[in-house]
Amino acid sequence: MKLLVCLFGLFASFAQGYDYQTFWFETKIDHFSFARNDSFKMRVLYSDKYFDSSEPGPVFFYTGNEGDIETFTNNTGLMWDWAADFKALLIFAEHRFYGKSMPFGDKSYDTYKQYGYLTAEQALADFADLIQHVKNNWPVKKVVAFGGSYGGMLSAWMRIKYPWLIDAAIAASAPILQFQDVTACGVFDKIVTKAFAKASERCADNIRRSWIALEKLGKDGENGSALIRENFRICQNVLPSNYTAVRDWLHDTYGNLAMINYPYGTNFLKKVPGHPVQVSCSFLDKDFHCDAELLKGVYQAINVFHNFSGDTQCNDVGNSGGDNISDAGWNIQTCNEMVMPFCGDGQEDMFYPYSWNFTQFRKDCEKKYGMTPDLNIARRMFGGRDISAASNIVFSNGDLDPWCGGGVLKQLNPTLPVVIIEGGAHHYDLRSASPLDTPAVISARNVEKEYIKLWIGAS
Ligand SMILES: *[C@@H]1O[C@H](CO)[C@@H](O)[C@H](O)[C@H]1NC(C)=O
Ligand SMILES: *[C@@H]1O[C@H](CO)[C@@H](O)[C@H](O)[C@H]1NC(C)=O
Ligand SMILES: *[C@@H]1O[C@H](CO)[C@@H](O)[C@H](O)[C@H]1NC(C)=O
Ligand SMILES: *[C@@H]1O[C@H](CO)[C@@H](O)[C@H](O)[C@H]1NC(C)=O
Ligand SMILES: *[C@@H]1O[C@H](CO)[C@@H](O)[C@H](O)[C@H]1NC(C)=O
Ligand SMILES: *[C@@H]1O[C@H](CO)[C@@H](O)[C@H](O)[C@H]1NC(C)=O
Ligand SMILES: *[C@@H]1O[C@H](CO)[C@@H](O)[C@H](O)[C@H]1NC(C)=O
Repeated sequence: MKLLVCLFGLFASFAQGYDYQTFWFETKIDHFSFARNDSFKMRVLYSDKYFDSSEPGPVFFYTGNEGDIETFTNNTGLMWDWAADFKALLIFAEHRFYGKSMPFGDKSYDTYKQYGYLTAEQALADFADLIQHVKNNWPVKKVVAFGGSYGGMLSAWMRIKYPWLIDAAIAASAPILQFQDVTACGVFDKIVTKAFAKASERCADNIRRSWIALEKLGKDGENGSALIRENFRICQNVLPSNYTAVRDWLHDTYGNLAMINYPYGTNFLKKVPGHPVQVSCSFLDKDFHCDAELLKGVYQAINVFHNFSGDTQCNDVGNSGGDNISDAGWNIQTCNEMVMPFCGDGQEDMFYPYSWNFTQFRKDCEKKYGMTPDLNIARRMFGGRDISAASNIVFSNGDLDPWCGGGVLKQLNPTLPVVIIEGGAHHYDLRSASPLDTPAVISARNVEKEYIKLWIGAS
């Protein structure tokens, strides 16, 4: 399953420690019926260091996504960088079913009777309840939502659903259009390919060729699949019946590298160097004379993601995202509301042909989680492309971020500006300012800041 987590920003090597406090906010497990009225405590991190009650600034509200909220708090430096200027109250709200915000404690992932409450609209209602509470207790008037990736989808949707609570939003790398009949399923892989081809055309061509070499080995009996295992130092056994698990894991690795292709090293999903796509491609920018050599090159290229630290004993095909992410929650969300189709043709992208088959996808969800996904619910609830009645949302995207294909790239009205960051990776703009920043990201942040000032009436 594709990781949207990479929204998870990453630590810059020079990330500072941010000072925040923790607050547990009690809210309902089910906001949409009266069949039950029990509640749970969600985790909220906040900082009032820059806030001044005598001259109150806005709330900067991070709409937490699919992971531990500390991670987003530490990796959304933009909010901290702007806080003093705006005298803002900083709030980072953890999404239900992630981190420490478990509605049913350690039983939260037991069955659909628990994780059936893991939905975007329940999470938005948690946020709304919390914002109402903050407004009742602090002298604040304006609230700005911030979020990256799935968190960016949530910040846009907060403004769309609760405009009386949220005055403006920055939706960074938010693929709110990555749904069936809204965005073509092949766009993600095409952009991954573009990012690699930009580093080196020959690298992308070699990657495209490598699938054939892999298939030859994979289908060549147990000795062939054993060679695959050896070549990539895979922890698991590899058999002809499941060598494609290795293939899919390699495929995901390239996507992850493209998402985190920042100009400086980061350590979140995994420790990686600056410009990891370029570093990875440096191992594939040559002509290989045989398949074995080519696959050795691929091993080196993907190790930039999986073993830059040098501490990886063997490569775990069951875990494409990194050490500290469990994608259990996100996989459930893709099996209820967040059904995102992916496909590729191996021509316009550097991968292998695979199709999107919702029938199969639904079967897998039913088997694994006992839940039947609703293919159209996201579009029905949040509008798909039909959001021109919305306002005060900045949609920002890096043009080399694979998720940008599902982002809003065309301005739908004057109050829904689109900011494209040339050469930018996944929600690069939300990261704290760095001496290595590109002029494109510096300019994007300045544009975003002007819009926020305008929309909340700040000088
Ligand atoms: C976030 O930063 C705080 C303070 O600098 C630190 O204590 C904490 O371990 C960090 N957590 C994560 C998940 O990065
Ligand atoms: C809700 O809470 C009250 C007590 O506060 C309880 O009497 C009632 O049975 C609960 N359940 C429902 C479904 O309302
Ligand atoms: C597989 O490898 C073993 C041990 O090296 C060898 O004896 C056997 O003949 C090989 N099988 C095939 C089908 O190549
Ligand atoms: C392939 O299947 C075998 C036997 O079920 C299993 O032990 C192994 O972990 C699987 N390998 C991968 C890469 O999924
Ligand atoms: C990771 O790098 C270390 C140090 O170079 C090496 O010893 C180890 O075998 C590598 N692990 C994998 C899975 O390639
Ligand atoms: C994530 O894992 C890396 C090791 O790969 C570790 O250095 C880092 O502290 C972890 N981050 C969190 C948030 O736990
Ligand atoms: C899609 O999956 C279903 C169920 O597994 C299968 O019957 C069908 O043939 C598949 N369709 C295509 C076009 O592959």
